[in-house]
Amino acid sequence: MQTHEIRKRFLDHFVNAGHTEVPSASVILDDPNLLFVNAGMVQFVPYFLGQQTPPWNRATSVQKCIRTPDIDEVGITTRHNTFFQMAGNFSFGDYFKKGAIEFAWTLLTNPQDQGGYGFDPERLWATVYLDDDEAIALWQEVAGLPLDRIQRRGMADNYWSMGIPGPCGPSSEIYYDRGPEYGVEGGPEANEDRYIEIWNLVFMQNERGQGTSKEDFEILGPLPRKNIDTGMGVERVACLLQDVDNVYETDLLRPVIDLVAGLAPRGYGQGNHDDDVRYRIIADHSRTAAIIIGDGVSPGNEGRGYVLRRLLRRIIRAAKLLGVDQPVMSELMTTVRDAMAPSYPELATDFDRIHRIAVAEETAFNRTLASGSRLFDEAARATKASGASVLSGSDAFTLHDTYGFPLELTLEMAAESGLSVDEEGFRGLMAEQRRRAKADAAARKQAHSDLSAYRDLVDAGPTEFTGFNELTSEAKILGIFVDGQRVPVVSHDARQDRVELILDRTPFYAESGGQIADEGAITGAGASSAAKAAVTDVQKIAKTLWAHRVNVESGEFVEGDTIVAAVDPRWRHGATQGHSGTHMVHAALRQVLGPNAVQAGSLNRPGYLRFDFNWQGALNDDQRTQIEEVTNEAVEADFEVHSFTTGLEKAKAMGAMALFGENYPDEVRVVEIGGPFSLELCGGTHVRSSAQIGPVTILGESSVGSGVRRVEAYVGLDSFRHLAKERALMAGLASSLKVPSEEVPARVANLVERLRAAEKELDRMRLANARAAAANAAAGAEVLGKVRVVAQRMAGGMSAADLRTLVGDVRGKLGSDPAVVALIAEGDNDTVPFVVAVNPAAQDLGLRANDLVKPFGAPVNGRGGGKADLAQGSGKGAAGIDAALAALRAELGRS
Ligand code: SER
Repeated sequence: MQTHEIRKRFLDHFVNAGHTEVPSASVILDDPNLLFVNAGMVQFVPYFLGQQTPPWNRATSVQKCIRTPDIDEVGITTRHNTFFQMAGNFSFGDYFKKGAIEFAWTLLTNPQDQGGYGFDPERLWATVYLDDDEAIALWQEVAGLPLDRIQRRGMADNYWSMGIPGPCGPSSEIYYDRGPEYGVEGGPEANEDRYIEIWNLVFMQNERGQGTSKEDFEILGPLPRKNIDTGMGVERVACLLQDVDNVYETDLLRPVIDLVAGLAPRGYGQGNHDDDVRYRIIADHSRTAAIIIGDGVSPGNEGRGYVLRRLLRRIIRAAKLLGVDQPVMSELMTTVRDAMAPSYPELATDFDRIHRIAVAEETAFNRTLASGSRLFDEAARATKASGASVLSGSDAFTLHDTYGFPLELTLEMAAESGLSVDEEGFRGLMAEQRRRAKADAAARKQAHSDLSAYRDLVDAGPTEFTGFNELTSEAKILGIFVDGQRVPVVSHDARQDRVELILDRTPFYAESGGQIADEGAITGAGASSAAKAAVTDVQKIAKTLWAHRVNVESGEFVEGDTIVAAVDPRWRHGATQGHSGTHMVHAALRQVLGPNAVQAGSLNRPGYLRFDFNWQGALNDDQRTQIEEVTNEAVEADFEVHSFTTGLEKAKAMGAMALFGENYPDEVRVVEIGGPFSLELCGGTHVRSSAQIGPVTILGESSVGSGVRRVEAYVGLDSFRHLAKERALMAGLASSLKVPSEEVPARVANLVERLRAAEKELDRMRLANARAAAANAAAGAEVLGKVRVVAQRMAGGMSAADLRTLVGDVRGKLGSDPAVVALIAEGDNDTVPFVVAVNPAAQDLGLRANDLVKPFGAPVNGRGGGKADLAQGSGKGAAGIDAALAALRAELGRS
């Protein structure tokens, strides 16, 4: 049975039962919480909630639905579609559970020649919400379903809501058993591939509030009336009635698969699972994209536009991975239109627009992929040239991050060139990027979480940045914000949480491109001349509006006032040194390491810079020195610094370096230092000539995640101060060592060597002393009971290991008669190590070192253990040593 027929039978069935047929709503409804319409009931929400009176008590529809949270499941399972058609019947305070079950059951099981779907009743199962005994009874009574084909399930499966506040209720789902070839027995609870859900009956009776998951939300209370909302998955029913393996092979999707199979070198269903998944992704996504564009969405970088872009790009990648080399979008859209237009005529009437948008996105993305392929070729060449066979994780990451290459594409291309890929490195970078994005998002959230307060000002136009030419500008206050709230005035004695001034023009550089914001002051002019504020930070809002974060130190600022904004010239000078220094180090790095040292981020502030770049492995001393030298030579050459604006393509053609992953406008600013030496796209502030940067001293080089290295440096006076400090340190060393500074290293090496020798000698002497002590101790053996006993305090500073050596020595000297040796000493840090040894003859008398060590250690708060022949322990408090020895003697005396 064809899909169009399935839809028709559904609508007819319910229209015959007194329902009004309502057309599908657009997939975009005016609810900011809902990205896309995800169920048939969405357009009826106001009726369920009792906010509006429904014009009918019964309705039926086939709704276009988009669900993208499971996008990664598409093509892998047999049943996930990002677009699907939900056929539904709705009762607004009319029939309830019994009617819903009855209507569904008859349509499903009525023979096909009587207008039904003709499903075998023996293969149908139902689930109900945990305590819904009423539904269980109805399934038995109305449908004759035996109890063993009715399962109770929890909130996650059988309690329906839109995922956001709105109507909700317990549900009952109908499943079809596809048979043992699809998985284990046991009903839907056991396997949802074998038992496939086809219809969900929701007993809509409550209103839900906010929540965190399907199972965790507040129930606000009952709805004004009890309602029914059902949803039958048209694609799933088609899959069963057409007896195909999965929803992607049904009559409306299969033509897309067939189309692509005609273009790709490897066909569909040829035993290659990955390929088959790609075919299904293309089929599913093409249709979804056409529908979304049809309802008015264009590709973009956020919200619905982003979902669309993602779908289109996934299609293109999947086609690439299937080995299709030509553009596919045009034919895909045509095929989707032909299949779907009988039910969705808008796809035909609006085809030109849909087609144009989809194809334009493909063209743009293919350009990106082409540049990515060039980068890949270069990286592969470099990898091979260096004798390696593994493409670095950072290359794979750049390809992914900047050019949208999924890892699997890179893996395939690498395999074709005889390379493998450092997947672990890639994943490390991905994880790191996610961490960064999260931290960024958290930071941004704090700063400008709610743009709506700034919306008027953003719309009114950008702040004019005057800071390339002057450090002091007169400007007008366009807006004042305290903690994100707009206020007309702010004074120095008012509460000052996050005060921001928005000006029409400003010389203050707002943090961007790695350069941190300028510091300086804003002072009142004319009437408000007493007002003064220190600028502590400047951030851009929506990229166009400069928000000056200030501390108001005196007077008050009023919206509309004229003020004077003045950047601290020393600060700015330092900032330009830092930023130009960054460009110099970047250029030097590429000169020394080659073009693979791609910038991955930077930060500069007065006197300091850091530069991150993609590179595998640490730099050696030689490379570091060279980078420093090339940089300082270029400083000394006193290159002129030019900046100019030009077209993006032109700038790139000149060889200007752009930061990967950055979105540049069509007109870009280029900063050039010394002609070809350094050419970068950059909006920052710079010195006029390179000598103004002053000396550049590299502090160090380190790793910041796999495949990314960081160079840190001082510039200008800070660089000098750093060197001066090092010089002073060296002078101090030379003077304490009493040698000229160039002899310090040799002197230190010599000292270290002598120290080692002395320590060795010391050890040797300590042991010799101890041995002598052992001999004495043996000589001083006493007889207690039947054993000869040496129980002694040894010289201070001994460790347990020293004692162990000694105890062995002493025991050796005592001969084969029964003997016990117990030594104790005052160790380091107030510890008291002790050791007991018992020779075999004494063990024959029943003495055990591991028993004796206990009374021995107790007076020094020590615990010990070991074996019958040797035991040791450690305590604290040397004051107890005599008592310990006495305790041991007493113990032995008793034996
Ligand atoms: N709203 C329910 C669902 O989407 C039934 O239509 O499953």
